[in-house]
Amino acid sequence: MTQLDTNQPYALVMRGIVKRFPGVLANDHVDLALYPGEVHALLGENGAGKSTLMNILSGLYRPDAGQIIINGEPVTFNSPRDAIRRGIGMVHQHFMLVPTLTVAENLILGQDDIGFILDYTALEAKVAELSQKFGLAVDPHAKIWQLSVGEQQRVEILKMLYHGAKILIMDEPTAVLTPQEVEELFKTLREMAAVGHTIIFISHKLDEVLEIADRVTVLRRGKVTAVVDTAHTTKAELARLMVGREVLFRVEKKPANPGNPILEIQNLNAKNDRGLPALRNLSLTVRSGEIVGVAGVAGNGQVELAEVITGLRPAESGKILVHGQDITNKPATAAIDRGVAHIPADRTGVGSAPNLYLDENLIMKSYRHPPISKGWAINLSEAFRQAVQLIKRFDVKTPDVKTPARLLSGGNLQKLILARELSREPEAIIAVYPSRGLDAGATEAVHRRLIDERDRGSAILLISEDLDELLSLADRIVVLYEGQIIGEVPPKDELVDEIGLMMAGTKIQAGD
Ligand SMILES: Nc1ncnc2c1ncn2[C@@H]1O[C@H](COP(=O)(O)OP(=O)(O)OP(=O)(O)O)[C@@H](O)[C@H]1O
Ligand SMILES: [Mg+2]
Repeated sequence: MTQLDTNQPYALVMRGIVKRFPGVLANDHVDLALYPGEVHALLGENGAGKSTLMNILSGLYRPDAGQIIINGEPVTFNSPRDAIRRGIGMVHQHFMLVPTLTVAENLILGQDDIGFILDYTALEAKVAELSQKFGLAVDPHAKIWQLSVGEQQRVEILKMLYHGAKILIMDEPTAVLTPQEVEELFKTLREMAAVGHTIIFISHKLDEVLEIADRVTVLRRGKVTAVVDTAHTTKAELARLMVGREVLFRVEKKPANPGNPILEIQNLNAKNDRGLPALRNLSLTVRSGEIVGVAGVAGNGQVELAEVITGLRPAESGKILVHGQDITNKPATAAIDRGVAHIPADRTGVGSAPNLYLDENLIMKSYRHPPISKGWAINLSEAFRQAVQLIKRFDVKTPDVKTPARLLSGGNLQKLILARELSREPEAIIAVYPSRGLDAGATEAVHRRLIDERDRGSAILLISEDLDELLSLADRIVVLYEGQIIGEVPPKDELVDEIGLMMAGTKIQAGD
């Protein structure tokens, strides 16, 4: 639908790109044109075809039809190596670094023109120069596993720059970053654009898109529906272009009507993966019919808290009670059997089995009970029937129930996990970043669902980095800092600054 003016000095043009998968037309004659020095956002519903288009551009997939033109010259890529040779590099959402190697070693990995003797001094000088130029501070000698997620992302960007990328694709780079890290990333992206690099930025966070991008291409069901300048658009318009209807950024809810305590956490202590204290003497009660929001910068014990409650991580001391029954250090099935649902931060490791079909993923928590279990056997036709219903109800976009979970788009995988967890009418819900990777429409639907669950009487612990999400959903907010709850605040918009200070470790009396 877009007209490409071929006389423009584009750095890159993708024209008429078509990509089919079994049962899905993921890209349907997509046009995308990028100027040198621009930050261009790619926006679209979950499953709209954004990652597919970028996988084509970065040489991972071959298009069924269409052309890629760089600086006026048509090119064909047979591998990511071909793409990087032409200056196109992609930073995937799941990093592709080798954890046991150093930063420097990761940078030269896969390079084919290294001789027998590596010139480490030259390598380090180059890394230092790039780090300096684009504000990408990392220690070249550090091992990847020692780095935070934000630092690992910097290494990925450095790696692409080191290999000569002029066009950098970032697929949902901010989904895993803290707000401070997002600001640092944006500085880097601006500096790259200032020297003429082109950045393709995928995100579902419309505020971010408006802040960082110059132009936006919107995809819907594999087709381009609009190309707009961010200077002449609004959040509401972008959402409408994506979803095809008005989107509510704040869902309505009645005041909470809390009942009995369902989840009681008493003086909990636990360690993180590195054996250091992650939770310190943490006590918290969540009652039936309330949403307790946990605010905090990632890495302050959020994930460990959810894991200990759901039996995925041992408690060093302290207690976890569900309906007064002690489930501390019991197997994960103890929490599941007491009706504790878990929407985990890690979708692919903890949340789903990538190689299993959707129906198998959906019954993972109910197969031990009727009607899915039938004596010793599993009632497969019942599982299939339920799966078909859930996929419809939770709007998981897939050609077929018998699709392996790994083939779902990022947001649709999240919807699958939500379908499994919320459909069992849970007594308590531990929701960790529940809208991560979801488009604006799906986020609204999940928010509604969590409020419905609350009103049905579920006790909800909502862990989120997104203050807007916490303020719109939570009935009260506790702030987690270095494994401790350092305060509680009512969810009022005017307290954002106080909450921010508390997230940074300042103890203050907010609200009342
Ligand atoms: N390798 C594959 N095999 C089969 N189907 C695929 C494959 N990769 C993607 N798809 C399908 O193509 C469609 C587009 O997926 P894509 O990952 O490009 O969406 P997206 O816009 O990136 O969505 P999200 O915002 O959820 O990440 C989806 O229906 C997805 O299930
Ligand atoms: Mg995607």
